[in-house]
Amino acid sequence: MGKNLEITESLQKYIDNFSLKLHPIQQEIIDYNNTLGDVKRMQVATSQCHFLHLIIKTSNIKNVLEIGTFTGLSALSIALALPDDGKLVALDKDEGTNKVALDFFKKANLDDKIQTIVKPALESLDELKNSKFDMVFIDADKMNYKEYYERSLNLMDKGGLIIIDNVLWHGEVADEDNLDKYTINIRDFNTYVANDKRVEQIIVPLGDGMTVCRLL
Ligand SMILES: C[S@@+](CC[C@H](N)C(=O)[O-])C[C@H]1O[C@@H](n2cnc3c(N)ncnc32)[C@H](O)[C@@H]1O
Repeated sequence: MGKNLEITESLQKYIDNFSLKLHPIQQEIIDYNNTLGDVKRMQVATSQCHFLHLIIKTSNIKNVLEIGTFTGLSALSIALALPDDGKLVALDKDEGTNKVALDFFKKANLDDKIQTIVKPALESLDELKNSKFDMVFIDADKMNYKEYYERSLNLMDKGGLIIIDNVLWHGEVADEDNLDKYTINIRDFNTYVANDKRVEQIIVPLGDGMTVCRLL
């Protein structure tokens, strides 16, 4: 069986040197998040920013929904990849981080492309129930993942993509002795998606692990 590489810090630096370069405002968001202490772990990894970029570019995606925006790194990465007539609706319940994100979107001249909605995501999803999206990126509170997933499926046509972050939960999903409720929740969610005949899916081991589902 082929073996996956361990991505050490120096190998990550090498990858970064030979990959797509970050937009200056993506870098500003990362620098800003670094000043926040431990909460900076909320942001997606740069490899995930590049992956989202590639998926959007290669799949002719125009309308995207994001559930969980924080200070805007994944949202900006998505918006940068969208075509001129593309649109991102970004959901988060936190007014403070939304304000920060909006400032970054404006600075990047992408505020026209990104609509943010600040309230609990389940309420926003109720209001969006007649909308259609080509892709949904789920990265909010993990206990609601199943609900976000089900509602996202209702917002897309065949071929639509749902990408879900943190599905490897720091690797703990594979440790059968770990019975922490958050780990069990992600494990249950992964089982639910794996058994779902409406989609085909793969888990991509970038960042904290992302599942990419395509609606059949
Ligand atoms: C992991 S962070 C998102 C990180 C973001 N995708 C990025 O790349 O920086 C999760 C976000 O979900 C938001 N969140 C948590 N529970 C929520 C809820 N019930 N409704 C809406 N947003 C929620 C939090 O406020 C937080 O900003």
